[in-house]
Amino acid sequence: MDNNNNGNNTNPEDEKYSAEFTVMKEDPDGGYSAPPPPAPVRTQQAPRPRKRVTKEMARRRQLGAVIIVFTILILILSACAKACHKDDEGEGGKGGKKTPSETTTSAMTEAPTQETVTEAATEPPTEAPTEAPDNSNVKLTTREIFLDNVGDVGISIIQVYPNGSTERNEVWRSSDENIATVDPKGYITAKAPGECYIILSFDNNPNIEIEIKVSVADGAESTGNMAAAPMHAAPAPAVYSNEGLHYIDGVLVANKEYTLPEDFAPGLDPTAEAQFNALCAAAAEEGYSIYMGSNYRSYEEQQELRNNFINWYGQEYADNYAALPGESEHQTGLAIDCASYSGTFSETQEAVWLADHAHEYGFIIRYPAGKEDKTGFQYEAWHIRYVGTRIAEEIYKSGQCLEEYLGIS
Ligand code: DAL
Ligand code: ZN
Repeated sequence: MDNNNNGNNTNPEDEKYSAEFTVMKEDPDGGYSAPPPPAPVRTQQAPRPRKRVTKEMARRRQLGAVIIVFTILILILSACAKACHKDDEGEGGKGGKKTPSETTTSAMTEAPTQETVTEAATEPPTEAPTEAPDNSNVKLTTREIFLDNVGDVGISIIQVYPNGSTERNEVWRSSDENIATVDPKGYITAKAPGECYIILSFDNNPNIEIEIKVSVADGAESTGNMAAAPMHAAPAPAVYSNEGLHYIDGVLVANKEYTLPEDFAPGLDPTAEAQFNALCAAAAEEGYSIYMGSNYRSYEEQQELRNNFINWYGQEYADNYAALPGESEHQTGLAIDCASYSGTFSETQEAVWLADHAHEYGFIIRYPAGKEDKTGFQYEAWHIRYVGTRIAEEIYKSGQCLEEYLGIS
């Protein structure tokens, strides 16, 4: 609106009144001054005779004037220089301080000198925040590990990470590598009898530091190079940020309760695939033949498989062994069905070997016998699920199924 400009609207009429008011204020008589007094009358005097100035005299005078001006200039400049020098002494030697604005100006106009650098280096460091470590929201399976022999490997699994941290932010170190070392995944290896601490921190949570006490029994002499336990440390699978996925404690869950979006199609997880190949190679070395059967299945492929199961084996069988689309782990790309040349997989020695060794490669038997009411499916000796070696080992040792382990059964 025109009249809504904070009173700055300059009406020509207002300007006129303002100008008049200025005149009135400056002239105490309001512009009606008395006439000026008459000028003093000069007495007539005879004119003084003019001195004759020669050209030479004029030149000398000019030269003298120039010298005087020049001398005055030199004096002024030297006075300024002295004053500046005094200022410098005041700052450096006598503890004088620059105001912030002076400092800024000098910083902007002067190149940094050696003095400036030295001053910055010797200034007391700004105090680091002295916040107490906040370890309260981090959960590990244990804060104390006992290793019986040099070469034994142990681990404390992180069950709950601090806010904003994941497996990738873990930083592990040992207080004494002569006693026990720790690898980037947290696997602790006994090196010599004694005690030390393994310290866990997170590169994005500087206030958190957790100590795990490690005691290595003196029952064995240190050889310094004993082989670690046969655990093939492997990371947790990639984490996807797709909406509609359900991660619980960092584990992607797909079951009858937590379903996957129809358009979630990651393909077979490359780490899971590599770990499976390592597993097959290890099995082969011991004389067992395990190979990859069905693995990643899209939502549509799962629908097709389910329909086939209903057609071939009936509704009840399909309900026990084939998940509905969106409820199958095969859609996560982290599940693999094992097959064997020896016959029906669940009746083979390969199935026994797999149950004993899958965790060493980061897999769990996803639908164990006796857990049907928790998983919602019958025992499947062939279906393994990649979770990374840490969780796989924990689940293996606990005897739980995934739902129990995650507290969602
Ligand atoms: N066989 C499992 C349950 C699946 O179909 O995902
Ligand atoms: Zn399967």
